[in-house]
Formats: sequence, C-alpha cells, structure tokens
Amino acid sequence: MQFKGKVAVITGANSGIGHECVMQFLAEGAFVAGVDIRTDHMADLQEAAAAAGTEFAFYECDVRDEDAVKAVLASVAERFTGSIDIMLNVAGITVDMPVTRTDKSVYDRVMDVNAGGTFNFCKQAAVYMKRQRSGVIVNTSSVTAQFGTQMGTPYGANKAAILGITRSLAMELAPWHIRVNAVAPGVVNTEMVAKLNDTERESCARSIPLGRLGEASDIAKAMIFLASDGAAYITGATLNVDGGYRPSFVPLPVK
Ligand SMILES: NC(=O)c1ccc[n+]([C@@H]2O[C@H](COP(=O)([O-])OP(=O)(O)OC[C@H]3O[C@@H](n4cnc5c(N)ncnc54)[C@H](O)[C@@H]3O)[C@@H](O)[C@H]2O)c1
Repeated sequence: MQFKGKVAVITGANSGIGHECVMQFLAEGAFVAGVDIRTDHMADLQEAAAAAGTEFAFYECDVRDEDAVKAVLASVAERFTGSIDIMLNVAGITVDMPVTRTDKSVYDRVMDVNAGGTFNFCKQAAVYMKRQRSGVIVNTSSVTAQFGTQMGTPYGANKAAILGITRSLAMELAPWHIRVNAVAPGVVNTEMVAKLNDTERESCARSIPLGRLGEASDIAKAMIFLASDGAAYITGATLNVDGGYRPSFVPLPVK
C-alpha cells in the first residue's frame, strides 16, 4: 500500500502493460485514472479497485489530442485529491512494414501516438506537478531505441524520441522535485507481439539470456519501483526490463 492516497494517471490502460500497471498501482493503494481509446477490458479494473479499497476512473481519450489530455487531467484533479502524483505513459502502437512501403503518413501517426502522446501527458502533468513541487513521470521506451528493429523504422525512431523527452524533462523539472525516467521493455507477451508465430517466439527467446519473453507484470513491477521512494535519487534514467535481451542479426524474409 505504498501509494495509498496518491493519484496515478496511466495511459494505455485497456490492455497489455498499461492494464497490468493499473492493477499493480491499485493493489498498492493508489487512486488510478486509466486512459485509452478502447474500453473492452475495463470491467476488471473497477473490481480490482474495490478489492483494494481504492478507486479507478476511466477516461476515453486519444493521447494525440492535447486539448483532450488537458481536460482529462483537470477532471482527474477534480475527482480525486487535486494532485497528479504519478504519470505513466504507456499507450503505444507499432507498425511492421519495410521502409520502402512506409508512407510518411504512417511514420507521422506512429510518432504522434507514441512520442506525441507522451509529450502531451508529460507537459500537462508537469503543470500540476510544478504547482505541487513534486511528482513522478515514467515513460515507455523500448530496447528498439538502443538496438533498432527491422521493418519498424517509425517505431524505433519514436522510442528513441521518448528517451530524448525523458532526459530533457528530467533536467528541466528537477528543481520542482519531479523525477522523470523511462522503462525500456524487451519482447513482452501482449497483444502487440501476438502476431509472432511459434518459430518467431522461439527465435526471440534465444536472444534473451533469461530464456523467456517478458510478461506485462515484469514491466509493471519496474514502473512501481521507479515511481516509489526507493527510486528517490533516480532521474533521467532508462531501466531496461528485457531479460538481458541481445539480438543477433537474422535478416527477416523480404516483404
Ligand atoms: N509488447 C512489447 O513487446 C513491447 C516492447 C517494448 C515496448 N512496448 C511498449 O509498451 C507500451 C504498451 O504496449 P503493449 O505491449 O501493452 O501493447 P498493447 O497494444 O497491449 O497496449 C497498448 C494500449 O495503448 C492504447 N492506445 C493505442 N493508441 C492510443 C491512442 N492514440 N490514445 C490512447 N490510447 C491508445 C491501445 O488501445 C492499447 O490499450 C507501448 O508503448 C509499447 O510500444 C511494448
């Protein structure tokens, strides 16, 4: 119950890593506001909140829309304690296509959701956190920011951009006691990687010294740590949560 009475806003709350983050922050006593464009996996979050003796509120919002993001945070502040204590940017999309078939509009869309959405929520949460003179932001990058990824140039680009946002804001917001960090997941067993066949999964697992794909709970635990007082002296950092992932280059079939 280390976050009892704290308010956490979590994007991408409907599925995968974001959904598991909501579960774990509720279990730690936080009031949680979940943000997503989809709503089909929300029912169990209300139940989890009731079981933990706290509250969950869902906000349907596209992270690309800055005015909507601003309105969500105003509504969260009004509904709970007036503060935004913890901001987790998890929402994201991926593309899987060769660069020669990637329209610039696709690049723009991936950049706008992943890096643009992270920027919007960081910016608007910082308004509250500066006023409070405290707060924690955790952004979601990826090991692709460090190693690259085949058939996913826009994704690799925006996950690196998210590290730029994280490091810049860590410096800019430190005088207000606001910490800003990123997690860099490896290959995690969610809808995002559901398209992998068994051979591709085995091939991924061979690049992971710990011998298995990550689970959403592995990433959520790292988010909990970075948001906690245990990480009080950590800002501007990227925490890889990847089982030691070291990809060996194997060309993908030509598409
Ligand atoms: N799964 C992996 O292997 C992996 C690896 C590295 C990083 N990540 C990152 O982790 C994060 C979560 O991924 P996941 O695997 O849980 O994927 P997921 O597809 O299960 O969840 C992503 C969530 O973001 C939401 N979303 C998408 N566009 C949105 C928008 N415009 N506005 C609001 N919400 C939107 C989706 O509805 C979905 O609920 C992403 O940022 C992803 O890039 C995932």
